[in-house]
Order: sequence, then C-alpha cells, then structure tokens
Amino acid sequence: MNDKTQRLLDIDRQRVFHASTHLKQYAHGELPGRVITGGHGIRIMDSKGIELIDGFAGLYCVNIGYGRTEMADAIYEQAKQLAYYHTYVGHTNEALVTLSDRIIRMAPEGMSKVYYGMSGSDANETQLKLVWYYNNVRGLPDKKKIISRERGYHGSSIASGSLTGLPLFHAHFDLPLERIKHTIAPYYYRREDSSLSEQAFSQYCAEQLEAMILAEGPDTVAAMIAEPVLGTGGIVPPPQGYWSAIRKVLDKYDVLLIADEVVCGFGRLGTAFGSILYDMKPDLITIAKGLTSAYQPLSGVIVGERVWNVLEDGTDDWGPFGHGYTYSGHPLGAAAANCNLDIIEREGLVQNAAEVGGYLQQRMAKTFSDHPIVGDTRGIGMLHALEFSSDKERRTHFDPNLKVGPQIAAACLEQGLIARAMPHGDILGFAPPLIAKRSDIDLVVDKAHQAINNVMDKLVTSHQWQPK
Ligand SMILES: Cc1ncc(COP(=O)(O)O)c(C=O)c1O
Repeated sequence: MNDKTQRLLDIDRQRVFHASTHLKQYAHGELPGRVITGGHGIRIMDSKGIELIDGFAGLYCVNIGYGRTEMADAIYEQAKQLAYYHTYVGHTNEALVTLSDRIIRMAPEGMSKVYYGMSGSDANETQLKLVWYYNNVRGLPDKKKIISRERGYHGSSIASGSLTGLPLFHAHFDLPLERIKHTIAPYYYRREDSSLSEQAFSQYCAEQLEAMILAEGPDTVAAMIAEPVLGTGGIVPPPQGYWSAIRKVLDKYDVLLIADEVVCGFGRLGTAFGSILYDMKPDLITIAKGLTSAYQPLSGVIVGERVWNVLEDGTDDWGPFGHGYTYSGHPLGAAAANCNLDIIEREGLVQNAAEVGGYLQQRMAKTFSDHPIVGDTRGIGMLHALEFSSDKERRTHFDPNLKVGPQIAAACLEQGLIARAMPHGDILGFAPPLIAKRSDIDLVVDKAHQAINNVMDKLVTSHQWQPK
C-alpha cells in the first residue's frame, strides 16, 4: 500500500464514523478500507490503482455511470448563477420549476406536486407527516397507523428506519415506532406452502394485509408503504397478481398507498416508474437515487391530487404548512436532476434498462439455475438477486456463521466486480448502471460465476458443505 493511502486510512479509522459498519472492527484495522479516487462509465478506481466494475451502481443510484463531465458542468453553471436560495413561501428557481414539471409528466397519472428533500429517508419522513396531516384535515385523528412490510427498506432515520422491515435497523435503537406495523413480504421463493401458485400466494399476501387492517381497526390505518420491487430486503419482484390484490384491499378500507420508488424510479425496471409497470396507482411516491444518479443529494415526494386537495384545505383552516428543510428544492440538486434526466432521455436509458436488463435476467437464469448452491435467481430490468441455499430442493439456508453471502461478495471483489451481499440472508444483489451494455453484463455474470465457484470449492475442501 502506498504511503498516502495508508495515511488516509489511518486517519479515516480514527476520525470517520462510517455508515452500516462494524465500528470496532473497522476502527481497529480488522476490516479493510478502500480509498475511492475516481470513476468512469461502469467502473470505479481506488488509490491503489485497482479498477472495479460496479455491478451495484454505488447503492443502486449511479444510473448514468461515473465521470459524466456534463453533470459537473451543469452543477458548476448553476452554482455560478445561483448556488442557493430557499423555497419557503413561494420562492423558487428556474431549475426547480423545470424539474418539477418534467417529474409530473413522467410520473403515473393523477400526480400533482413535488416536495423536495435530500435523501430517501427524509422523503419518507415527509410522507408520514403528509399522511398524518391529511387525516387530521379529514377529521380522522385516529387513522394514523402505517403498514409497511417485513424486509421492506425505506431508510434509517427514526420514522423511515421504523418503516424498514429488517431487524438490524430496529434492534438496539428502540425502533420501530408504535404506529408502524409490518405485514408479510411477497417473498414467493420463501413461501411456506410450496404448492401455492404465484397468484395464490399473492392472494394470501392480500389476505394477510386485510387481516392486519381488521385486527388493528380500519379506522386506525392510514397508509401502506411499499417498494414496487423489494430492494435491500433481498431484491424480490412481486409475484403475479400481487399489486392488484393489494390495491383492492387498500381501496376497501380507505388506506393510501405510498410507492417507495427510491430504487425503481427513473428507469431501473425498464419503465419510468415501477408503479407504472405494476399499475399500482399510488397516492404518493417517494423518489431519490436515480433522480440525480447521485451526482447531488436530492429526493422528492410526489403528491397525488387526492391527497393534495386535502392538504390545500388544511392550510385554509390552519395556515401555512409547517414542514420545510433549509435545502428543500436546492438549485444544485435540481440542475443535476435536469441534466441527469436529459441524459436518460437522450441515451434512451429506460429502454436500455429494459433491453439489456432482459439480457441480464436471461444470462443469470441460464448460468445459475442449475448451480449447486444457487437456490433462486430472480429479478427484473437492471435488478437481480442470487439467493444461496445449502439444499436447492429443500430451500434450506446455509449456516449463517459461514457468511456465504459476504464470502461470495468478497470473492467477486477479487475478480474485480462489486456485487452486494444484501443485509438479510445469503443473497447477492446486482444493480448495474443503466448504461451497461450486453458485453458489460457478460463480464458481470462471468466474474460472479467464477467467484461463486471459488467459494463453493472452498466450502467443499473445508468440509463445510458437500454437493448431493
Ligand atoms: C427503497 C428505498 N427507500 C428509501 C431509501 C433511503 O434512502 P437514503 O439512503 O437516501 O436515505 C433507500 C435506500 O437505499 C431505499 O432503497
């Protein structure tokens, strides 16, 4: 390791509090660190000169790829003209007006306004405040509970971390908040009754949701929040018929639907929004990541007409809407988003995600369906997951102490590929930038294949697992 890298990592271990990290192991040098120095296209570089294919687009966000100087220019030009002014009380800027109009045009039917934040987590916090305010205006002060899903991921702040349905984000943080409940995930691969068809399993999920609404009391349930495709919880596309079955239950009990499109929005599934693909008809939509391809932090809440009209009435009675962030509608974020959407349109990246994404699904299925330790291969568009199993037939888990998922992610790195060990279960996630070509997908699949074989061989030679 060169001197500068060593020095940076030493100071980093002393001074930086890293997200989602084993704090002690990292601070004491037991976990590796990496200094990222640059990126180009689908690759990133580190300070040791190692180049890696980023098969996860950062955290499924760098959709247009790294090193787009056009983005840097757009941000620079905006900074020279107007780096900041707030958006309170009717103040606006041209970049924001342009952006909001195009988001509403891209969004599913019936959307009205966009409220801006800086992260997916804060946007989901906003969602809850909107929903609570909405039912206060309607004179329904008890209708406040939010139903999320086990394995859902919606952020890690106090409310959004409560919405998240993964134990790691609750335990020892005194979460979830009481008003937030979790129904079952539409996780067809892990269904208990293996004889159920996808349709029947979707119906079962809807029945479970209905049972929860009835048990809590329909007059107390305000909204359901869900990702069109479960992301961080394991990259799980919904089984057939899921969204129409869920929508029916929500309509029956006057429960709003918040589609968390932080990952799916702006092309990842091969459509502008996941809600359009699955005809979810959401009342509210959360956006972030792909909005700027992470060149600037920017998130948003898209508010449908039905909710908007009630919010307007509320301010008639109660005065200005008491919710705002200093950086809401930041001009640099808006400029980055406009340039990002220009690139997506000009380069046909939504279409590319559909076409090359289709190729990704095919290649993964062909390569891994019969692989001895791959229990499931699933995905849609530019999202894919491989789930590992010690016995394919019986869908059994590996001993968690073996850390098969993290071992495979580490083996991918040795092959020069970043794939993500998802936080819950032995699941390896892929979410390449939307600019990826078929030849890039070939590299991703071949490298992952080599890595998985290497780990399988190691499990066999160490007598930790034997093929049947
Ligand atoms: C679906 C979804 N919602 C919300 C978030 C939270 O976004 P952020 O990390 O920007 O707060 C994420 C982050 O991965 C996400 O995947």
